[in-house]
Amino acid sequence: MSEISEYVKKEIAGLEPVEALRTLAAQFPGEIVFSTSFGWEDQVITHMIFSNDLPIKVFTLETGRLFPETYYVWNRTMEIYGKPVHSYYPNHELVEAMVNAKGPNSFYNSVEDRKECCAIRKIEPLRRALTGNKCWITGIRAEQSANRQYMDNVEWDEVNNIVKYHPIYSWTLDEVKAYIKENNIPYNSLHDRGFPSIGCMPCTRAVQEGEDFRAGRWWWEDQSKKECGLHAVKQH
Ligand code: ADX
Ligand code: SF4
Repeated sequence: MSEISEYVKKEIAGLEPVEALRTLAAQFPGEIVFSTSFGWEDQVITHMIFSNDLPIKVFTLETGRLFPETYYVWNRTMEIYGKPVHSYYPNHELVEAMVNAKGPNSFYNSVEDRKECCAIRKIEPLRRALTGNKCWITGIRAEQSANRQYMDNVEWDEVNNIVKYHPIYSWTLDEVKAYIKENNIPYNSLHDRGFPSIGCMPCTRAVQEGEDFRAGRWWWEDQSKKECGLHAVKQH
C-alpha cells in the first residue's frame, strides 16, 4: 500500500459504492477511469457511473476477439445511457507481426504465445488507457477466484503506478444479479448460458455447475497461469 492508497481507503471508508465513486471522482478530476469488459459486474458499475452522471471516463479494451454478445451489450449500453464508452484497440503493427508469424490462433500453442497475445491485445492498450490517470476502477470481486480473495477493495498497482478501487469487491454473485434485475440493466446474454466470466471468444468457454468462476478462461492452461496480466497477482 502506498500513501495515496491509504488516503483513498480512509476517504471512502464506510461509503456505499456510488458515494465512494462520487468522492473519488471529486478527488481526482479528469484523472479517474473505469475499465469495462461488459461482464455483469462491470455493467453494475457502468450503471452507477452513467445514471448518476459521475465524471469518470469509461473505457474498454477492444481486443478484436470479443464475442458477438459482448458487442451487442456494448451497443445497448451506449443506446440506453447515451454516454460514450471509449475503446482502446491494439497497435495494428504488433498484431500484424504476431499473426503473420504465428497465425490467428497462436494463443493455443503455449502459455508464452498466449501471454504474447494478451500483452499485445490487452496490456499495451491498457497502458495507454491508464496514462495520465491516478485512479482506476474495476469490477473485480473477491469471490471470482482464489487469488482475488487475498486482494482488498483499494490497492496500489505498482506496475501501472495507480490506485485501484473495486467498488463491488465484497458483493456476492447473487447481489450482482439482484442489482441488475432491480435496475433493469442490460447484461451479456452469455451469463445465462454458463459463462460467469467473459473474456475473448477463443479463450473463454462455459463452465459446469459448481466449477470455479474462472474455470472457463484459458481452460486448456494450468490453473496457476490463468491471469492475463491486466491485474497483478500477489504470491502467497
Ligand atoms: S481478466 O484479468 O481475467 O481479463 P476479468 O475478466 O476477470 O479480468 O475482469 C476483471 C476486471 O478487469 C473487469 O471488471 C474490468 O474492470 C477489467 N477488464 C477485463 N477485461 C477487460 C477489457 N477487455 N476491457 C476493459 N476492462 C477489462
Ligand atoms: Fe489473445 Fe486470448 Fe488474451 Fe484475448 S484472451 S488477448 S485472444 S490470448
